[in-house]
Amino acid sequence: MSAPHALWTSLLPADTVFPPSRVAVAARGHRITYADGRTRLCATSGLWNVPLGFGHPAITEAVAGATRDASYLSLFRAPHRYAEEAADALIALAGPDRYRRVLFSTSGGAANDAAMKLARQYWAQGGSAPRSLIVGLRGSYHGTMYGSHVLSGDDLAQSVYGVDRRAVRHVAPDDDGDDLALLLEREGARVAAVVVEPVRGSGAHALSDEFVRRLLELREQHGFLIVADEVATGFGRTGTMFATDRWAAAPDVLLLSKALTNGAMGAAVLLVGARVASAFVEGGWTFVHGETQAGTPACAAAVLAVIDELRRMDVEATTQALGLELHRLATAWKDDGIVSGITGRGCFLGLGLRHPDGRALSGPDVQDVVSAVADHGVIVHPGPSAFELIPAYGFTAGELAETDRAVRAGLAQVREASA
Ligand SMILES: Cc1ncc(COP(=O)(O)O)c(C=O)c1O
Repeated sequence: MSAPHALWTSLLPADTVFPPSRVAVAARGHRITYADGRTRLCATSGLWNVPLGFGHPAITEAVAGATRDASYLSLFRAPHRYAEEAADALIALAGPDRYRRVLFSTSGGAANDAAMKLARQYWAQGGSAPRSLIVGLRGSYHGTMYGSHVLSGDDLAQSVYGVDRRAVRHVAPDDDGDDLALLLEREGARVAAVVVEPVRGSGAHALSDEFVRRLLELREQHGFLIVADEVATGFGRTGTMFATDRWAAAPDVLLLSKALTNGAMGAAVLLVGARVASAFVEGGWTFVHGETQAGTPACAAAVLAVIDELRRMDVEATTQALGLELHRLATAWKDDGIVSGITGRGCFLGLGLRHPDGRALSGPDVQDVVSAVADHGVIVHPGPSAFELIPAYGFTAGELAETDRAVRAGLAQVREASA
């Protein structure tokens, strides 16, 4: 074990000590190197945010160039050219018929907070009656800022932090919208926005087509705004540029982060549709939200480089093809009785795990599986009774075979240990 350091690693007890084999020292391509000299193949694209691989040369160059030429420029009450160009490129990518304005933020959680504020202001200043309720889905994850923490539908010790739950509601994500419809019958006139992840990151569960159809229909009926949290699913992850591209109508606000800069910067954006953007323009309202490090030149340059690269590689064709390969692998694990079910879409898959007697694996058991697969050289992500595969888009056939071997060996190791 290495000597304790001052670092308080997130989501773990403050005195957790790690062996060198767990301390990362470098990352390149699809591999991470650890302090014991070993490398592992990363089948999770970092924390799902590095789909173009670690150390991507064009993105590295773009960040270095912008830092050299423009250092830091703020977006407080004045624009700069880098952010203007990145915003235009994002609208061109996501569709000028769908979105009109871009607000920069610094993380997925902060972007969710900003979206909640934007929705409440939209109704406070524009609606005939103010609406303050925000509706999220059970089992969702939107971050751990004060707004996004309460919006997250998983139990994340919210009560410890005194987050204010009074203006947030949670509904079932897996009943084709029945629970949402019921809630709206009761409180629809007070609902400012419904926030959804098209594929929930916790376990990789996609919203059903029927849920989406009902959601869009209920918006027509009750008037709330739809915020799509595509922090994880944006930029090709599920086989379309944005997961909501499959929807029959656009959300009112689209949240993007993670792949936005390929993990190079703390960055997020809100793409704001015509309904909200026009209300703010016509009302002359100021949105009181600012973050010092949002939309810096380096961030904006990274966004432009990512968009160029996604276009160059034809990201939708690439992730559709890789998604099929991943699904093929996962199906074979299912045939072997290793995996109980496959969820998710494209290159964002959840693999349900169960004991030989059919019981779903618990959290510590899942952690054992993830650690055993890592012992065999591949990093996968733990989910609830599942592990997740979220690889970089350039994963090769050799890297898929390596993943296959490590998952099988890791699962065999866990089975033997528990026999
Ligand atoms: C869908 C979604 N929203 C929000 C967040 C929070 O993002 P951040 O960690 O950048 O605050 C995440 C992070 O995993 C996410 O997956």
